[in-house]
Amino acid sequence: MNDYRLPDLKQARRRGPYQAPIIRDALKLNETQKSLGRDLFYHVITYGCQANVRDGEVISGILEEMGYAHTELLEKADIIILNTCAIRDNAEKRVLGEIGFLQNYKRQNPSLIIGLCGCMAQEEEVVNKVLKSYKNVDLIFGTHNLYELPQMLEKIVVGKQKAVSVYSHQGSIFEGLPSHRSLQYKASVMIMDGCDKFCTYCIVPYTRGQQRSRLAEDIIAEVQQLCQDGYKEVTLLGQNVNAYGKDLPENGDFAYLLKKVAETGIERIRFTTSHPWDFTNEMLQAIADYDNIMPYVHLPLQSGNDEILKRMGRRYTSEEYRNLFDRLKNTVKDVSISTDIIVGFPGETEEQFQDTLKMVEYCKYDNAYSFIFSPRPGTPAARMEDNVSMEEKKQRLARLNERLDYYSKSNNEKWVGKTVKVLVDGPSKTNPEIYSGYTPQQKLVNFTLKEGKVGDIIDVLITEAKKNSLNGIQE
Ligand code: SAH
Ligand code: SF4
Ligand code: F3S
Repeated sequence: MNDYRLPDLKQARRRGPYQAPIIRDALKLNETQKSLGRDLFYHVITYGCQANVRDGEVISGILEEMGYAHTELLEKADIIILNTCAIRDNAEKRVLGEIGFLQNYKRQNPSLIIGLCGCMAQEEEVVNKVLKSYKNVDLIFGTHNLYELPQMLEKIVVGKQKAVSVYSHQGSIFEGLPSHRSLQYKASVMIMDGCDKFCTYCIVPYTRGQQRSRLAEDIIAEVQQLCQDGYKEVTLLGQNVNAYGKDLPENGDFAYLLKKVAETGIERIRFTTSHPWDFTNEMLQAIADYDNIMPYVHLPLQSGNDEILKRMGRRYTSEEYRNLFDRLKNTVKDVSISTDIIVGFPGETEEQFQDTLKMVEYCKYDNAYSFIFSPRPGTPAARMEDNVSMEEKKQRLARLNERLDYYSKSNNEKWVGKTVKVLVDGPSKTNPEIYSGYTPQQKLVNFTLKEGKVGDIIDVLITEAKKNSLNGIQE
C-alpha cells in the first residue's frame, strides 16, 4: 500500500465563500532535511506562465535551503524537477517526452531524482498516467504544497519510497518561503493565486485553486525590499490581477494596490493578466497617473464574437471590450495593448471567426498570442460538440496571424526615429555586441551598448522596426 495523495478534479471545482488562511512559517526543516542536498546539484525546468516561473524560483530557494546547489547541466544534476503547465495539450506532450528522455540520465546516475510539479501535477488523468507508465518519476507535488518538498525528498532519499502529494483544495497563501530569483534587477511578485472565472475552455481554476489575494501590506513590503536590493522593475502577477482584493474585505482593490506600489518609488511597475471584466476607471486612472506604472496592458480578447464569448464564459460582449479598449487608449498616453486569441473554439463558424478578425482590425494590437483551442479534460468546453476540422482551425490561425503580424510591425514602425528608455537585459546569445531590453511599452529592442550594464535604464534611438522587435543605437 502506498500513501499517495492524488489530485481530485471534483474537489478542485469547489468554490464558495472562502478566505484563504495566511501561513507564514510553512517551511520547517529538520536536521536531516537541512543537509540532504549537501554536495548535490539540482536543475528545475519550467514550462509555463510567469506564475509558474515564480513557483520555480521558490522551489529553487527551498532546494538551496536544503543544501542543493544549482546546475545548468542536466547530466550533473542529482535532482531534476519538471515544473509544468497544463494550459494546452502540446505543453503536456513536451513534458511527457522529456520524462522519457531523462531516463538516459537515470541510467548513468541511478540515484537521480526526477520530480514532476506545477499545473500538470494537479490533473487527475496526468498523475494516473505518470504513475502507471512513467516509472522513473520519483516525486510528484502540486501547486499548493511547494513547502512539503523537504519532507518528500527525505521520504525518497532516506525512506527509499516514491513521494506523491497533490492537494486539490481551495488553497492557502504562503508568506516568507525562500526563493532564488533568477534576475537581480527585474522581479515577479505574486499578488494573488488561483482563479474563479472558470472560462469554459480553461484548466487554470482547477489547477491553481480558488482566487486568494495576498495582503497589500505583505506585497508592499516585498516591493520595498526589492527596491532596497537594487531592483528596477517588478511585475505584479496573478491570473486575474484586476480582481485582486475581491476576496479580502478590508484590504483595497487593484487600483489601491497599484498606487501603493507606485509610491514605493520603484522605477518600473508592470502587471499581468488583466481580465477585461474587472477593469475599473480607477485602475485606468492609476496607470495614467503614475510615471512608474508602465503604459502597457495585456488585455485578452479570446474571441470577437458575442455568441462565442458567451459560450467561453468570458462575461463581456465585443462592444464592452471595444469600449474598454477605447477608454484605455484615451486615458493612458501612448499605451500599448497586447492580447490573447483562441481560434477554433468548438462549433466556431467562419462568420464568427470573421468577427474576431474585425476586432483585430479595430484594435490593431501591438502584440498578440494566438492559439488553436485545445480541449482540457474536465472543462465544459471539452464536452462541447465540435464540427470544425483541425485543417480549418489551422487555416484560421494562419489568417489571423497574418493580420496580427501586420499590425505589430506597423505599430513598431511608429517608433522609428524616436528615443526610448530601455532597461538593459543582456547581450544576445548569437552576437555579444548586441544587447536587448524592453521599452516602457514592452517593445523588445536590440541595440549596441556604448556604456552602461545589465539592469541600467538607458536612452536608445530606434533605427529600424521589425515584426517582433526594434533595432536601435544607444544615444
Ligand atoms: N488569466 C488569463 C489567461 C491565462 S492562460 C486571462 O484570463 O486572460 C493564457 C492564454 O491561454 C489564455 O488567455 C487563452 O488565450 C489561452 N488558453 C487558455 N486555455 C486554452 C485552451 N484550452 N486552448 C487554447 N488556448 C487556451
Ligand atoms: Fe483561465 Fe479565464 Fe481564469 Fe484566465 S480568467 S485563468 S482564461 S479561467
Ligand atoms: Fe500553465 Fe498553470 Fe500557468 S496551466 S499557464 S502554468 S497557471
